Amino acid sequence: MPVVPSNIELRTSVDAVEPLMLVGFFSGWPLPPTPNTHLEILRNSSYVVIAVDTMTAQVVGFINCISDGILSAYIPLIEVLPEYRGKGIGAALLETLLLTMPNFYMIDLCCDAALEEFYSKLGFQQTTGMIRRQYRSQSGLFEIERGDQ
Ligand SMILES: CC(C)(COP(=O)(O)OP(=O)(O)OC[C@H]1O[C@@H](n2cnc3c(N)ncnc32)[C@H](O)[C@@H]1OP(=O)(O)O)[C@@H](O)C(=O)NCCC(=O)NCCS
Repeated sequence: MPVVPSNIELRTSVDAVEPLMLVGFFSGWPLPPTPNTHLEILRNSSYVVIAVDTMTAQVVGFINCISDGILSAYIPLIEVLPEYRGKGIGAALLETLLLTMPNFYMIDLCCDAALEEFYSKLGFQQTTGMIRRQYRSQSGLFEIERGDQ
């Protein structure tokens, strides 16, 4: 397990998390999910790991995974807040997730070429994938249903 700063606590539950602890994520997204929606995303995920700065009680990194519980798991999101990057937190989130969930046959994710090194260090291999994006839904279906946009 990579060493993280002593003020960083890794948790596999979001039970004690409130939306105000989730500010600052989805950096660079034109239509980001709100902290409320972010918390719903984490609650609805099959597995989640968060990194909490115990000095500020803020979540500073997270990873989530959705799975059929038998064969396949998909990692849609991992993010560490910019000021906390380069300290081993991203690797610790991914490694903790892999230790937390069962040994599924398929554990898949998509990433930019720049991040292939980050993932290959943790046992992932390069492949070819296809994706479909519906940008109107980028902030999440909840917000569309509530008419927030
Ligand atoms: C990708 C991300 C989660 C990495 O988190 P992090 O806490 O900075 O990563 P770590 O400090 O644990 O780095 C682990 C290793 O990966 C390497 N690494 C981290 N980010 C990298 C990058 N962008 N490109 C290449 N290598 C990278 C580190 O150098 C480190 O290598 P080392 O073990 O040899 O020292 C973080 O940069 C981030 O949130 N980026 C924005 C969101 C994003 O791109 N998410 C991924 C979507 S697929």
